[in-house]
Amino acid sequence: MHRSAAIPATALALILAGCGSKAEAPVEQIVVRQPGQPAASAPTAAAPAAGDLVAAGKAAFAVCAACHSVEPGGASGIGPNLHGVVGRAVGTLAGFTYSKAMSGSGITWSEAELQAFLANPSAKVPGTAMAAGQVADAQRRAAIIAYLASLKH
Ligand code: HEC
Repeated sequence: MHRSAAIPATALALILAGCGSKAEAPVEQIVVRQPGQPAASAPTAAAPAAGDLVAAGKAAFAVCAACHSVEPGGASGIGPNLHGVVGRAVGTLAGFTYSKAMSGSGITWSEAELQAFLANPSAKVPGTAMAAGQVADAQRRAAIIAYLASLKH
């Protein structure tokens, strides 16, 4: 008459541990292929990652948008329009008056040059009129530059 209905605590712990703790099994990629045709290439992981970076950069660009427009042919504000700035020679946007420091710097805005400029504008171009826009975080700079590079048309 002494049979206990209680499950020993260790057994109970094992039962609970088994609940919902399994990682989901990876889903196999299905590649549709017509007979005699090569399989369509599966999307690579790099494409969505690059899109995410551009989206993050677009959001981060909000701090620049107070002074810079980005639409093609858009009017410059306090700073020059930045549409197509990646690959552009410094200080060449018609209709914007650059500081002598900027227009005389001889920079062409490669991604590396933009990284250095945004990390510390007045260290890269001493005497620049760009009084704000320093971006301390390298990832954030990379995202903003990816966004600017995506603005080609
Ligand atoms: C307070 C206003 C202001 C903010 C904010 C600002 N900028 Fe600027 N930016 C300027 C001005 C003014 C210039 C022109 C500087 C000069 O002539 O020395 C400039 C120049 C530039 C240039 C050189 C463009 C060319 O045509 O050669 C780039 C690139 C640039 N800014 C990127 C950025 C980015 C990216 C951000 C945001 C992270 C930003 N700026 C934030 C005012 C601003």
